Amino acid sequence: MKAVLLVGGEGTRLRPLTCNTPKAMVPVLNRPFLEHVLCHLKNNDVDTVILALGHLFKGVVEYFGDGSKVGIRVIYSVEDQPLGTAGPVKLAARHLDGRFLVLNGDIFSPFDLKNMVRYHTHLGSTATIALTPVENPSAYGVVEMDAQNRVQRFVEKPKPGEARSNMINAGTYVLEPKVLDLIPEQSKVMFEHNVFPTLLSSREPVFGYDTHGYWIDIGTPEKYLQLNLDLLNRQAEAKSTIGKGTVIHRTAHITGPVVIGDNCEVGSGVRLVGPVVLGADCRVGAGSILRETVIWPNSCIGDSCSVQGSVIADNSRLGDRVRAEGRCFISDHVEIDSGVCLDPGARLWPGTHQQSQ
Ligand code: GTP
Repeated sequence: MKAVLLVGGEGTRLRPLTCNTPKAMVPVLNRPFLEHVLCHLKNNDVDTVILALGHLFKGVVEYFGDGSKVGIRVIYSVEDQPLGTAGPVKLAARHLDGRFLVLNGDIFSPFDLKNMVRYHTHLGSTATIALTPVENPSAYGVVEMDAQNRVQRFVEKPKPGEARSNMINAGTYVLEPKVLDLIPEQSKVMFEHNVFPTLLSSREPVFGYDTHGYWIDIGTPEKYLQLNLDLLNRQAEAKSTIGKGTVIHRTAHITGPVVIGDNCEVGSGVRLVGPVVLGADCRVGAGSILRETVIWPNSCIGDSCSVQGSVIADNSRLGDRVRAEGRCFISDHVEIDSGVCLDPGARLWPGTHQQSQ
């Protein structure tokens, strides 16, 4: 089966982490997010993935090449200008033959896609939309269905009381080829606003499929951090992973699940309180504490720092005694002088030099 993966968005809400890194390539447990998604597709009988790219596409192509690294065939379809969610699928149509999948490329939801395809086929559906329940649907597209799960109505970002359901569009679709006929060439078109409502008004069978289980979109830094912590907590029973060439001082203390990349240096008296992810070639100076934190490769934390509930992207440098506690999101190539205490929620952009007052 073939799948189109939408990975061409700008990821503005995930800034400053996505200023120089495409959303698809942000590291999750030290592997690009997209690699996790491709592995899931491979395990669900998808043999070919068409990556619909636009913004910052080169890094994706360089890393995945023809896909042999993950054991799946990868084809690239690159847009000159953003075509939304459905426009890129039309652009990729020449690579498709028969029933296919479309997935938003920023969602982690390891549910059984094979079962969803069986459900779609069994019902004779034209379009089947994966659904997930949320407590507060006000930021999402709600899908209302009848008792047989046939979709009746879409309510985009409903106000309180406006929607009769808390099931939202989970960003994965099984589609029949005739859906492609509804998408104009080279136009910005959205499944959510254009294609699916048109299918409903022409009385085509559109069904919802409850994915039951973990679902998160990594649209914001908070959710990106959450995914890393959740995945590590889930494997809490498993042994922590320490990369090749990494040196951990005998007085350093590690508790909880951690993933440490290759060639890192963890100094004396350091406390890593997992979940913690440390990318390759990082250094953590003596006496520092890292808790519930993700550090990307090639960054350096000085002595006696405290980094908690935060993310530091690649090639950043923290001096000694720096405090970044509580949802601090520090981009790549940032320098922070010794003694700086960041306000909770601080966001530092690439190239920032944060000086002490
Ligand atoms: P924000 O700028 O933060 O809203 O992020 P985004 O641009 O990624 O948009 P959104 O979260 O709405 O997109 C959902 C999925 O569709 C993501 O995987 C995006 O990469 C993808 N996407 C959004 N717009 C486009 C587009 O114009 N072309 C392609 N190929 N993919 C897109």
